[in-house]
Amino acid sequence: MEISNRRDLFIKINKAVLNCGQCRLCRTRINAIPGEGNITSKLIFLGEAPSSEEDSMGRPFIGKSGMLLNELIAKIGYNRREVWIGNLIKCHPPENRDPMVDEIRACSPYIDKQIDIIKPKVVVTIGRLAMEYYLPGKKLGEEHGKAFRVKNFIVFPVYHPSGALRNPAIKNILVSDFAKIPGLLKKDINEIAFFNKGKKSDINVGISLF
Ligand code: URA
Repeated sequence: MEISNRRDLFIKINKAVLNCGQCRLCRTRINAIPGEGNITSKLIFLGEAPSSEEDSMGRPFIGKSGMLLNELIAKIGYNRREVWIGNLIKCHPPENRDPMVDEIRACSPYIDKQIDIIKPKVVVTIGRLAMEYYLPGKKLGEEHGKAFRVKNFIVFPVYHPSGALRNPAIKNILVSDFAKIPGLLKKDINEIAFFNKGKKSDINVGISLF
């Protein structure tokens, strides 16, 4: 796909996200946050939902977790402008509660579409919820740092940096999981085993918005 086409499609999605009223989170958010970065990157990072700092600033991962994410990305030779960073849920859930199933259903068409356009090779899911969207039934404690083929990309779950801010042992795990990412980007995707052979999860229900 031409880069100008991708940009046009992204402008359309960003507008839809910024004006979204598909779930109750639109009533409490300050900013809806579509995501940012390189829309042609083979590597993308997908968090759960913006926290309150991100909500006030309108950008993903710019608080303390974001600083650590930047550091982890730098350790593997990238900077955040070279990759794309976004969240499964585009609006901050009040009191940092987990997003509800109907909110995930309402929001997931955006990330599905964003991934269709970016066509990443590796989607690094950050935290439990982003992992569960692609790998329902899997436990992050058992699956972090492992690669799964989903559709035409690789899902690579890692712990959320907020956990590492509370527990230094998690930071070491994150560093060693991130160290596998450059190798994955070089790997033949056909060598990665499919998760669930393309079956859709309970919550991973595509609803077409476009
Ligand atoms: N945590 C997330 O999952 N996403 C953000 O954007 C910030 C913190």
